Amino acid sequence: MSRLVVKDLAKSYGETRVLERVSVTAAPGEFLSLVGASGCGKSTFLKIVLGQETATAGTLTVDGRPVPPEPTTDRGIVYQRYSVFPHLTVRDNLVLVADLKHGGPLARVFGPKRRTARDEADALLERVGLRHAADLYPASLSGGMQQRLAIAQTLLGRPKILLLDEPFGALDPGIRVEMHALLLEIWAEHRMTVLMVTHDIGEAFKLGTRVLVFDKVRRDPQFPGAYGATITYDLPLDRKTRPAAPTDAGVIPGPVLQRSA
Ligand SMILES: Nc1ncnc2c1ncn2[C@@H]1O[C@H](COP(=O)(O)OP(=O)(O)O)[C@@H](O)[C@H]1O
Ligand SMILES: [Mg+2]
Repeated sequence: MSRLVVKDLAKSYGETRVLERVSVTAAPGEFLSLVGASGCGKSTFLKIVLGQETATAGTLTVDGRPVPPEPTTDRGIVYQRYSVFPHLTVRDNLVLVADLKHGGPLARVFGPKRRTARDEADALLERVGLRHAADLYPASLSGGMQQRLAIAQTLLGRPKILLLDEPFGALDPGIRVEMHALLLEIWAEHRMTVLMVTHDIGEAFKLGTRVLVFDKVRRDPQFPGAYGATITYDLPLDRKTRPAAPTDAGVIPGPVLQRSA
């Protein structure tokens, strides 16, 4: 888990301003749900936290240090449709990632490290309920199982910050509820700091300790790209110390509306 501090962050693509004056602090182990209209810059914000995009202005630090300009395993991301490697079995999808982590592809050839990677892979598969599918190929998995695999791959990096970009948006409602339970369990175990973008406001309130709303406060009808989105509401849900319990997860607490900035 890590403390994330974002100050006055802005992002433009050419003449188009996507984000402006974004400031937020996430305490270690907090679970921030990010909501907002399509196209308002939520994915862009996650990419900046990941180090895959750079901010045009402002600062972003993780545990007091600027974010390295490229992704590292301590910040892991799961997308709505994650491209797991289709030509590798479920287990080998994890072994490959573990291998890379333990010393690059050459380590694959040699004994002890390969066993370490395999053991680690199997332990994680057990954890996400995919042990029985270890020898299958991704194409034969359901959407929920593929997302479990994607989450397992990300967990291999032991991320201190877990970024989720509409991770369950493509799943059936029943599977989504299962994935919520899995995510809350993993979060309770590791207490990583989580930033999750979702279209589903119920999901945002159910899982988060805070809900951040991204929106534009200024608009120019002549030039939609003139202004960017910022965080217009920051709703604390007071779940910081509450252990994740799937039984109470369906309750949507009454938020205290606090206009931020
Ligand atoms: N690489 C890029 N180059 C140019 N424009 C981009 C790029 N990535 C995103 N955008 C634009 O930035 C805006 C925000 O996109 P995005 O962060 O994906 O929004 P959201 O995730 O909230 O739907 C959109 O208008 C999108 O077209
Ligand atoms: Mg997006």
